[in-house]
Amino acid sequence: MHREIAKGVYYVGVDDHHTKLFENLWEIPLGVSYNSYLIVDDKIALIETVKEPWTEEWLDNISEIIDPAEIDYLILNHMEPDHTGALPHIAKIAKNATMVYSPKASPMQKSFYDVGLEEKTVEDLEEISLGSKTLKFVHAMFLHWPETMMTYLVEDKILFPCDAFGTYGALNGKIFDDEIDLRMVEQESRRYLSTIITSYLKFVQRGIEKVKELGIEIDVIAPSHGPIYREDPMWIVNKYAEWSSPELEKTCCIVYGSMYGYTHRLAIKLKEELLSLGVNVKAHNVSYARTGDVLVDSMRAGVIVLGGPTYDAFPFPKLWTFMNEMEGKRFAQRPIGLFGTFGWGGGGVRKMKKWLEDQKFEILEPVIRVKARPTDEEEAELKKLAKTIAQKLR
Ligand code: FEO
Repeated sequence: MHREIAKGVYYVGVDDHHTKLFENLWEIPLGVSYNSYLIVDDKIALIETVKEPWTEEWLDNISEIIDPAEIDYLILNHMEPDHTGALPHIAKIAKNATMVYSPKASPMQKSFYDVGLEEKTVEDLEEISLGSKTLKFVHAMFLHWPETMMTYLVEDKILFPCDAFGTYGALNGKIFDDEIDLRMVEQESRRYLSTIITSYLKFVQRGIEKVKELGIEIDVIAPSHGPIYREDPMWIVNKYAEWSSPELEKTCCIVYGSMYGYTHRLAIKLKEELLSLGVNVKAHNVSYARTGDVLVDSMRAGVIVLGGPTYDAFPFPKLWTFMNEMEGKRFAQRPIGLFGTFGWGGGGVRKMKKWLEDQKFEILEPVIRVKARPTDEEEAELKKLAKTIAQKLR
């Protein structure tokens, strides 16, 4: 399947409905698309390949338009294998093609594939003429890896930003923003950003600023995952700008684990208390929630509350994993509430507190440690914690 985006510019990407976990980490119940674009001019350029198992379908899409052996340029905005996995296959067909990428991508290409095609490394804002059309390359470091760049098709005013402005969710033949329910796109793009890009939010802001400063007109944004924005290209840019803003939301996210329900009851009591104080609060049980959804609700929450039982003298393992995600995804500083239960030895809350102190998070008082069922005093402490959270978010 292919679709024309502008005269001589085609979508030739594929849908993935097989992968359950993107990066073997993040749930993608609606699948994902690996977008690839063909530009046919005096010279023929192909922007991105696809993840390796989808090579055959992708080559069929290209072959509907041209003979893939005629491709002159393989534009590789980003070396991650979901966009370059098919490179060794196309290299055997398009033997005269030149790979075009940023200087930082060259050693990556060699370490991943070592394809024997000619390469051309392009500097920031360098251009290549295809005849009547011009490609301009815009370096976009850490969107999502250090070598990443965007490609701008000057005459058609189409920006190909690769991962930036991407979305989970397969396209199923409807490739444009005006053909798809944007409520689904909003949900899937926020989950995509929260799981993939959270560590690089400041680079999202910088990337948006850089494109604005270039003063280029953008009629179409054609990312490498998810829909192509032709009706309102700024819709997704504004969403990304909002979600990557350093200003956190006035919400509270309770992330908790529970073995036998004691910590669960505390979490729900805290949630009810917060709701009665008018706080916008969400709660996730880490044993059952999709990690991507926990990240969506926690990454921008003004206050996070962590709660869990002690397990083998350590924090509840799935909660500990989430805390490591907070570190790996460079969660912005914010106040953190803490509560936990234990049956006999304890140690979970103490270790979580030490971890939060090492990460320089502000820990809200009171920190609550409950042996099995809470006493009246401990329930009163929970109410106190709720009040502290409400004040912080005011
Ligand atoms: Fe879609 Fe960073 O690859």
